[in-house]
Amino acid sequence: MDWGMANRMAQLIKEDGRCFFMPIDHGYFQGPTRKLEEPRKALEPLLPYIDAVFVTRGVLRTSVDPAAAKPVILRVSGGTSMVGKDLAHEGTTTSMEEAIRLNVAAVGNSIFVGTDYEHDSLLNLAKLVDEGNRYGIPVMATTAVGKELEKRDARYLALCCRIAAELGASVVKTYWCENFEKVVQGCPVPVVMAGGPKVSTELEVFEFVHDGLQNGAVGVNLGRNVWQNDYPVAMARALRAIIHENASPREAQEIYESIKQGRA
Ligand code: 5RP
Repeated sequence: MDWGMANRMAQLIKEDGRCFFMPIDHGYFQGPTRKLEEPRKALEPLLPYIDAVFVTRGVLRTSVDPAAAKPVILRVSGGTSMVGKDLAHEGTTTSMEEAIRLNVAAVGNSIFVGTDYEHDSLLNLAKLVDEGNRYGIPVMATTAVGKELEKRDARYLALCCRIAAELGASVVKTYWCENFEKVVQGCPVPVVMAGGPKVSTELEVFEFVHDGLQNGAVGVNLGRNVWQNDYPVAMARALRAIIHENASPREAQEIYESIKQGRA
């Protein structure tokens, strides 16, 4: 791996081999989604506890202080909306020149395997990898499911992750699922977990993150279950403890409760 690419990967995946990415990119198709109406307000309190931010250029320029920023994974796919015809019909929205101008650590796009736009999204990924390789910029591929959340099982996600790796993604972001080890085993590049829509208890989040890490994920790219929580900093600190300090789900819950109750 060339120096620039290796340096960028090291900014993202820390010395312990783990990472905590914070996605605040949801507005690119969801608009001002709940608790992300003002991205700066959602992000700033979390910055001390995360390793990188996943964001579009619009939110980066308007809502992230360049002097205080963490490494940036730039969301470069889009062109669809929640109210449009098909969420899978994404294109590449941001050039590699722009990514370089913004001094990003990586770029990220989505692939939509099994949809009418599978072919387009996979070729978008391959092209992005070619351009990224030219300039030493890694690509994080997201195995997106749009509104079809029920698709998230090990067989499907393993297929998506492997395809993303075969096309040259440096990191693959996917969902946690039962038998997660099958997803990781079939994917020769690092896998990070997205959270999906907010689940009902914090413990559920801590348990699936812990399970995913035990089964080979290198970290998370987890948004709504953090910033839609009533105590986002408590969530971020508890997750950080699981990711970087090997805390158990119960220990993470204790950290969450103690911060929530102002004891830490
Ligand atoms: C949305 C994304 C998000 O980055 C991804 O889904 C992770 O966020 P969450 O944990 O909220 O699902 O790709 O466009």
